[in-house]
Amino acid sequence: MTELKELIKIENLEKTYITASEHLTVLRGLNLSVQSGTKVVITGESGCGKSTFLGILAGIDTPTAGSVAAGPYNLAAMDEDALAEYRSRFVGLVFQFHYLLKDFTALENVYMPAYMAGLPRTKARELAMALLSDVGLADRAGHLPSQLSGGERQRVAVARALIHNPELILADEPTGNLDPANAAMIGSLLFSMVEQYHKTLILVTHDRKLAELGDVRYEIKEGRLV
Ligand SMILES: Nc1ncnc2c1ncn2[C@@H]1O[C@H](COP(=O)(O)OP(=O)(O)OP(=O)(O)O)[C@@H](O)[C@H]1O
Ligand SMILES: [Mg+2]
Repeated sequence: MTELKELIKIENLEKTYITASEHLTVLRGLNLSVQSGTKVVITGESGCGKSTFLGILAGIDTPTAGSVAAGPYNLAAMDEDALAEYRSRFVGLVFQFHYLLKDFTALENVYMPAYMAGLPRTKARELAMALLSDVGLADRAGHLPSQLSGGERQRVAVARALIHNPELILADEPTGNLDPANAAMIGSLLFSMVEQYHKTLILVTHDRKLAELGDVRYEIKEGRLV
């Protein structure tokens, strides 16, 4: 029996960007509850606030109003140090661009976050190697990002997102830079890794095929989830 618990609870989330020339309200009272282990997919038109939403959930950006609870964390009340701790413990990120460090091998890119977070190097390397095997890159562990294909780089990014054993995986258009065949491959890989490691996934995308893989699907419309 899998235990159902509420991992994410978002209430009346609002985000207004204030620039010199305007106030732009992107999120207007967004609510969301996510059970642990669920794979949530969020779609919506370009500019509707998908990345804004994910950035807040990742602790990269802060809400204008509302409450965001993720596991034991109450994000809206946290300062920069607490948010940094939240990011390094609770969240694994996969973006459209892989953001791999170009002078480091695939293996080093995967184990670095765990090593920096205090895991002994041998242990971190061991875990990283296991994850690289899971994503089918055991034989590319010593390659630099420049020596990998686009799809392979994104597979490294998926492995890296899991290295510190986060509860929550956030993915922003993870297949956006790939051709359709690679996109389908990375999409199913990401979902199966999330399944295998019992993580919770929140993914935003334009990609209809990718969206179909979600257990629960929402669209952002006028600043809310529908
Ligand atoms: N730092 C910022 N300052 C001001 N406005 C911003 C900022 N970041 C985003 N915006 C605006 O907020 C709106 C939502 O942006 P966001 O990046 O969340 O959209 P999105 O749904 O992810 O779009 P896409 O599908 O194109 O990635 C856009 O109109 C954007 O121009
Ligand atoms: Mg976006």
